[in-house]
Amino acid sequence: MSSVMMPGGPVADAVFVDLAPRVAKLIEGGHTPGLATVLIGDDEPSARYVGMKMQKAAELGCNSPHVHLPADVSTQQAINAVEALNADPTVDAMLVQYPGPPQVDFDAVLLAVDPDKDVDGMHPTNVGRLALGIPGPVACTPAGIEALLAHYDVPVAGQDVVIVGRGVTIGRPLSILLSQKRPTANAAVTVVHTGVADWAEHTRRADILIAAAGVPGMIQPEHIKPGGVVVGAGVQYEGRKLLPDVDEACEEVAGWITPRVGGVGPTTIALLFRNFVEAAERHANAA
Ligand SMILES: NC(=O)c1ccc[n+]([C@@H]2O[C@H](COP(=O)([O-])OP(=O)(O)OC[C@H]3O[C@@H](n4cnc5c(N)ncnc54)[C@H](OP(=O)(O)O)[C@@H]3O)[C@@H](O)[C@H]2O)c1
Repeated sequence: MSSVMMPGGPVADAVFVDLAPRVAKLIEGGHTPGLATVLIGDDEPSARYVGMKMQKAAELGCNSPHVHLPADVSTQQAINAVEALNADPTVDAMLVQYPGPPQVDFDAVLLAVDPDKDVDGMHPTNVGRLALGIPGPVACTPAGIEALLAHYDVPVAGQDVVIVGRGVTIGRPLSILLSQKRPTANAAVTVVHTGVADWAEHTRRADILIAAAGVPGMIQPEHIKPGGVVVGAGVQYEGRKLLPDVDEACEEVAGWITPRVGGVGPTTIALLFRNFVEAAERHANAA
């Protein structure tokens, strides 16, 4: 059996098709959305990610002011930069690129971001909103995974979803998101991690298995339900080479699966832009 592929590109395209006229409307109304990016130090992949987001903002006709702080910056200097962006009315949302240099307390910097401008949906206030079911920016990769499943008409409601990994970027917020009472969620969610010795006992019965561990090749064909849905979110990098959690051989057993490259990644960026445009709409409406 060969599985049906679920690339993230078409999902991202659909999100941007929805966002483009909303941005145009904001600009017509005199409010050009502004997405600020903050890069601390000279980490090359981080600089690349920031560059990609600035380019996408420009393609949409938005402003993207960039703050590049030197690698030897202190936590307080980084917080000062964030606070200046909080106070800037032309900035609707900001992205502080992770990771930063070791002397910078990244949690303290993240905490300084105005939750209303938090494009990643990772500020504790927004994680709290997610847990309480209050609207707000949602963590981009989990939101992208929900959008991906919805785009490919994968039934989620009432299904057994097993997430491998309880990390704060994916596993934990995703477990909250997919257990919420919504037609595109409403699932029976199980989260496995290193504390679950026989995690495969859970993954083998999963209607939908989401790998978010960051352990290359961890998910093998014998770990998945034949004909089930497999979403590979966890990755590690070896230089520029991508090493996904889900082994290629799973494509012979799964019913639906994300490709090893171009799966969840494009949806993450698209959902970040949805958080951004929603922030701009809130600010334009409040003005
Ligand atoms: N595709 C994308 O767009 C995208 C975006 C963001 C992140 N990512 C990737 O997603 C992955 C997860 O990131 P994260 O920040 O959410 O999590 P994380 O902090 O990297 O934590 C990994 C999780 O996986 C679990 N785990 C690791 N090895 C395991 C094993 N052998 N058996 C069972 N569980 C295991 C860990 O369990 P314990 O809690 O017990 O240690 C932990 O809960 C990373 O690889 C990251 O690079 C991808």
